[in-house]
Amino acid sequence: MEYEILKPELKDGIAVVTISRPKALNALNTRFFEEMSDYLEKIKNDDNVKVVVITGEGKAFVAGADIAEMVNKNSEEGTAFSLLGQKVFRTLELLDKPVIAAINGFALGGGLELAMACDFRTASTKAKFGQPEVNLGLIPGYAGTQRLPRLVGLGDALYLLMTADMIGADDALRIGLVQKVFEPENLMEETLKIAENITTKGPEAVKLIKKVVRQGIAMDFDKASAMEADNFGSLFGEGKEGKEGMSAFLEKRKPNFKKNI
Ligand code: CAA
Repeated sequence: MEYEILKPELKDGIAVVTISRPKALNALNTRFFEEMSDYLEKIKNDDNVKVVVITGEGKAFVAGADIAEMVNKNSEEGTAFSLLGQKVFRTLELLDKPVIAAINGFALGGGLELAMACDFRTASTKAKFGQPEVNLGLIPGYAGTQRLPRLVGLGDALYLLMTADMIGADDALRIGLVQKVFEPENLMEETLKIAENITTKGPEAVKLIKKVVRQGIAMDFDKASAMEADNFGSLFGEGKEGKEGMSAFLEKRKPNFKKNI
């Protein structure tokens, strides 16, 4: 599939995916979801892609779902557009590789929902965050009502959802919506350093971290802990990644992790 909106670039195992529809502040339309869905399918089993970084071109990360596309939809079409976004973002969230959102500017509505479906978020000091749907007489449709309270807690989530207030990077950092903030000119370089750092870790362990955390958070605590123990154990034994990592520590050398993430 030829992409009109996504610009993926792969370098040294890190795929930087730029959302490029700057005239509409990268607003998310059906075409975007088709392209993202296609891209995720493409990289799913590609060992050359170790970490994914998603960012936006211009002054926005993403300013929300495309209001011009949504305005004439009826109720059924509205639900279908919500389900489409939810499905693609869930696929992204469950991708077997770390995904980082590098938030360069406005991350509003569906844009913040996209960022929240990533594993963690870095941001420019100029970034702005919000769920402004109530200004439009809407609610979030890409699971923002579900991911936001899980990320920042009920009070901050309901505050943002009910007031539509736009907050800056400092407040986003304070409430845990983003994990790191950088000057705009350093955002990509610093985010790539984080991505590179992850590629030096035990690839199977990184994969399992994502799986155990993401599956476990939706499970009963004791069942989730049992799942953790099973996955912990899977890294032990001759030829396994944990054996190499622990042996390297004891032998005071760098581990030689072989498999790609
Ligand atoms: N959808 C469609 N077009 C959008 C858009 C969106 N979400 N956000 C911005 N644009 C368009 C504008 O219409 C404008 O187009 P024209 O040049 O053709 O007029 C262009 O992008 C530039 O935008 P502005 O002139 O408004 O730029 P600004 O710097 O003055 O303001 C802004 C920036 C504060 C982000 C403002 O654009 C804005 O408020 N955008 C809408 C934000 C929003 O409400 N997002 C939520 C959408 S609903 C949603 O996401 C539902 C869901 O969960 C599924």
